[in-house]
Amino acid sequence: MCGIFGYVGKKDAGRIVVEGLKRLDYRGYDSWGVAVNTQTKISVAKDIGKVDVGTSNLVLPDARIAIGHTRWATHGSVTQNNAHPHFSTDKSFVVAQNGIVENFEELKEQLTKERYVFKTQTDTEVIVRLIEKKLKKIPDLAEAVRLAFLDLTGRNTIIVLHKNGDIIAARNGSPLLVGLNKKTQEIFISSDSLSISGHASEMLVLDNHQMIVCHDQNLSLHDTATGKKLPLNPEKMDIKKQVIDKGEYEHFMLKEIHETPQVLDAIINSPDDFQKFAQAIKRARTVYTVGSGTAGGAAAQIAYYLREIAKVNAISLVGADASDYYQLFSKDDLIIAPSQSGETADVLEVLEVAQKKGMKIASYVNMPGSMMSRISNFAFMSHAGPEICVMSTKIYTSQIAWGYFVASIVANKKAVAVKNLKKVSIEIKKLFEPSSIKHLQKVAKYLSKQKHIFILGKGQNFLIAKEGMIKMIEGSYIHAHAMPAGDLKHYAITLIEKGTPVMAVLSRDNSYNDVLNAIHEVRARGAYVVALSPEENISFDLHIPVPDLGEVSAIYNVVPFQLITYYMSVMLGNNVDKPRNIAKSVTVK
Ligand code: G6P
Repeated sequence: MCGIFGYVGKKDAGRIVVEGLKRLDYRGYDSWGVAVNTQTKISVAKDIGKVDVGTSNLVLPDARIAIGHTRWATHGSVTQNNAHPHFSTDKSFVVAQNGIVENFEELKEQLTKERYVFKTQTDTEVIVRLIEKKLKKIPDLAEAVRLAFLDLTGRNTIIVLHKNGDIIAARNGSPLLVGLNKKTQEIFISSDSLSISGHASEMLVLDNHQMIVCHDQNLSLHDTATGKKLPLNPEKMDIKKQVIDKGEYEHFMLKEIHETPQVLDAIINSPDDFQKFAQAIKRARTVYTVGSGTAGGAAAQIAYYLREIAKVNAISLVGADASDYYQLFSKDDLIIAPSQSGETADVLEVLEVAQKKGMKIASYVNMPGSMMSRISNFAFMSHAGPEICVMSTKIYTSQIAWGYFVASIVANKKAVAVKNLKKVSIEIKKLFEPSSIKHLQKVAKYLSKQKHIFILGKGQNFLIAKEGMIKMIEGSYIHAHAMPAGDLKHYAITLIEKGTPVMAVLSRDNSYNDVLNAIHEVRARGAYVVALSPEENISFDLHIPVPDLGEVSAIYNVVPFQLITYYMSVMLGNNVDKPRNIAKSVTVK
């Protein structure tokens, strides 16, 4: 994970980098650092916690060139010393990294034998020492950085600032892009496009194995394997700044849940032509879907809709554990990846294998310029607006609704899908009314006092139960366990005793009675049942009424879980928008 930001221009570079890092802190928020160049010297300010120079008593000198980093620790604990950027021994340059140097132990051992001294526990320091070593033979920083970069294995993107003001940045795996504003003569280097929106009018997205060298405001692009110069072809960027504020809401999470109806409307009104994609789905031997975390759950629900509605042979994979399928991948298959960032390393790895096998790739991404979009034969954008809260809400709902929409188009039922999604959108708005919120707060109050929560579902609602589980784990830090309702009796029923909270999601379809049976079974053992259901039942201790929306009920049902989690997180005093230990964009394996 981690975020990288760099600036070359005429303004206060330190301040601009700090602002950039604040926009990137969803990528990691345990510590941060800024290095500014004051003509012949580099000054570094680092701290743990939230990016904030003001409160950390760190003073950044006035400068025109700076780089920065926001960290999600992989190697080495969260300390000021381990925060990036890291100085070279002679303080002539600094390095920051987004990624993992997978061969760092081996490199460190070798460099230690050669008497290089390490002052931190990070894998990134290995890159610093490696550059120092290369510089002994080749006194050209860009070339030394390139050669050092070639010795690294894993997915890593680095940025280097020299005391003479040169910036060198190289990409392999983790995202890297350059924003240009020719009018103001500014250059921005960043991990994502959102952080430079409103500042840059052009954007150059680096591919893997490319590096940039920025010397005296002159930018050049190179191939990392050969060092050869490559043509610079930046694409136009909308200079309009994306508004990133909480508006009237106390947290981004609540704001983003409230944006769900618009997100669904954007799918219904999508200008995309789905016909070619629908044909490719029909032609495919197998359609795989893949994602990680919440997006992994969305990928599975998309596969569900493809099977259930489009009668397509669809299999869902989890990004981090898909390698046993690689041998089955064939050029006749198609793979679909829903992803907020379009940069998740575990998913990219699966897509890279799929690409090598000649499979067609489709993605549904929210961040412009991402690697997933770039390697896709069918690149769809979710147009859901920025999602800042680390817990995904509106994007998940958008992903599953899009999957339903696509499956319906494949089944020649687009008109039905439009009608159904409109209904969901209207019903979700009603969920935000004060009486409904009051009831969900009551549920949240009860759940936030529990230690373990079971969540049951079946059919269209099983993966919704699972997403409810993910949300509660992330937002409340309370252990939750989702399972297909009927499977509970096979093992987890041993854990049910008087007062055990069991949530269940019911829809008026052919899964209804099976979920109700499971409710009876747990209730007979004293469980306290909280049920989302279109109708009341004497077996429910707490009833969350939901509308009967037929085959799109699940798309609605996830939203009460998101709201309950939101209120649990608030009641428990947790950091709602940035839960501990996780990050929004995970570009390491
Ligand atoms: C992280 C986030 C999740 C997200 C997952 C995949 O784990 O915390 O909310 O679903 O990454 O991210 P993506 O950008 O691919 O949707």
